[in-house]
Amino acid sequence: MNGTARPERRRASRDAAARLEDLRERIRHHAYRYHVLDDPEISDEAYDALMQELRDLEAVHPELVTPDSPTQRVGAPPSAAFRTVVHPQPMLSLANAFDEDELRAWHRRVETGLAGQAVSFVCELKMDGAAVSLVYEHGVLRQGATRGDGVRGEDVTANLRTIESLPLRLRRDADPPPFVEVRGEVYLPNQALDAINEERVAGGETPFANTRNAAAGSLRQLDPAVTARRPLRLFVYQIGEVRGRRFRSHWESLAWAKDAGCPVNPHVRLVPTFEEALGYVREWSERRTTLPYGTDGIVIKVDSLDQQAELGATSQAPRWAIAYKFPAEQAETRVRDIFVQVGRTGALTPVVDLEPVRVSGVIVRRATLHNEDEMRRKDVRIGDTVLVRRAGEVIPEVVRVVTGKRTGAERRFEMPEKCPVCGSPVERRPGEAIWRCTGGATCPAQILERLIHFASRDALNIEGVGPKILQQLLDRGLIADPADLFRLTREQVLTLERMADKSADNVIAAIDRARATSLARLLYGLGIRHVGVHVAEVLAAHFGNLDRLMEAPPEEVGMVAGVGPTIAESVVEFFGRPASQELVRKLRDAGLRTEAPRRAQGKLAGKTFVFTGSLDRFSRREAGDRVKALGGIVSETLSARTDYLVAGDAPGSKLDRARKLGVAVLTEPEFLALLGEPA
Ligand code: IVH
Repeated sequence: MNGTARPERRRASRDAAARLEDLRERIRHHAYRYHVLDDPEISDEAYDALMQELRDLEAVHPELVTPDSPTQRVGAPPSAAFRTVVHPQPMLSLANAFDEDELRAWHRRVETGLAGQAVSFVCELKMDGAAVSLVYEHGVLRQGATRGDGVRGEDVTANLRTIESLPLRLRRDADPPPFVEVRGEVYLPNQALDAINEERVAGGETPFANTRNAAAGSLRQLDPAVTARRPLRLFVYQIGEVRGRRFRSHWESLAWAKDAGCPVNPHVRLVPTFEEALGYVREWSERRTTLPYGTDGIVIKVDSLDQQAELGATSQAPRWAIAYKFPAEQAETRVRDIFVQVGRTGALTPVVDLEPVRVSGVIVRRATLHNEDEMRRKDVRIGDTVLVRRAGEVIPEVVRVVTGKRTGAERRFEMPEKCPVCGSPVERRPGEAIWRCTGGATCPAQILERLIHFASRDALNIEGVGPKILQQLLDRGLIADPADLFRLTREQVLTLERMADKSADNVIAAIDRARATSLARLLYGLGIRHVGVHVAEVLAAHFGNLDRLMEAPPEEVGMVAGVGPTIAESVVEFFGRPASQELVRKLRDAGLRTEAPRRAQGKLAGKTFVFTGSLDRFSRREAGDRVKALGGIVSETLSARTDYLVAGDAPGSKLDRARKLGVAVLTEPEFLALLGEPA
């Protein structure tokens, strides 16, 4: 190296630093035009070219790469767990209103609280996603967290950085204060949710039921690269803690957030009267389905921050805001056909085949009519225009026929006299609403459904062995009942369509793991009528092993808490059948566990839990697993014997019932404390 090269290199590096900063500023400017102003000045291609130029230049000068560079969105390696962070201010939830009367009642409380002062309101769409808190210090993103229990959340900064519309640095024009906490909702546009769900279904996974689950799940991925592949977006709806600056109104703070480069929903509106706020609610109740993303309501907020402070908050929610929840979304579509599905117990369920339509965020193609009586009562015919909704926002169902749109060409559907799959006669027992195929053990549809049930998540949980694989195994004569699964060889599995070496190994390994299942899972997996997850657990805990249960008289089975005579009869009838006994023998031969593990001696031993509403920290299933791991019991039905009702966000009628029955109600933080987990 000679003496003149060094200053030259320094100069070159200075030039590069200046060029880099210039490029970054231009990219930030265009990202702001695109994501925040929704008014891009350049094409996507031109934007990509700028990004490429920046990446190339940074590759030559790695020492000049800064963490807030637009190229540094996916950088962090996968982590083992998220750090817990305490929010600068608690993230409260919102009180709900379900109709105009409840909104007016809230308004009266606001008026009383403010003793006749004039009040303006800000109306916003309530985004259906996951709440996040973003801390910026001197304009640079320092920390991003989930809401968690409102006081503590999880540090998901690395994942949040991958969201393109989320600024890594606030715009200098907005003169960012030394510390500001910006809050908003991370969501997935409808189309992105469709694409992810299609991918999940193709891969044998269950699709996300709504954008909320999809957004929360994506944010809590341990590998930021996975989050980066989900096209998440952000809308900012509030400023939390701020130091070194004062806002007078919510509207002013939103305007500032937008100037600072944060995406604010373009449909926010400042209104001078409450009547106009109601107008906004009416308007968006109609218009919401035209949006490319899901919203589940409207939030009305008192605009003045002084007035907000005067009204204050309860421990749960501010008094200065209210969320109006839309009624379950209904969509109109056409019935293309009606057909019957044959279930595991031979039940024939009429199902409508619909012209695909979006309902509450996902595309619906089919809806159940439950049984013949229900179909007649609703008088659904082929060719009808119908309204559909998702019951509990999950299972699609027909609400009613739009009879005004009938043309006369509609056709009634008659239940078949023979099973459409095996041709056996169908029967409807007196007092039952359901037609059943009498083919029993020989009906291929029933056999397939029983296998699907046996391998499903709540039963033996044989990962990767879903309907498609089971159908092929049946078609090739490789299996005829659940026990045959345990005799499959790798070579046999390899003969299936699109089955590579590695997937075959995975299938064999998953089947092998299932041998060590629990008695409860096995009992549920056998598909005995009336034996759901809960009853199976109770039976397993009481009898301890399969032999004792199989030998028990109906009176003994019926004496078990939570098991009535109908269930007892069904269990005894099942094990009395020679075919069932043969199946159990084969399963034993295959090395399946038929004993319950030693009774859990956890600190929740014997305590019964019921859940209602959604929890922030985990899914219902995860929460249930924690309870069971500590020896507790999880039930769907609330009764005086229930020990605890855990009430999450938007609890249903169970909460009122629990209060009437005197059952202890736990909030999510209280539940976490009981589990002994940090809130
Ligand atoms: S304001 C203290 N505004 O709704 C007020 N929340 O049920 C804090 N949400 O956890 C919330 N859109 O995740 C507010 N425009 C909006 C919102 C919104 C969606 C969510 C947020 C919050 C939940 C409360």
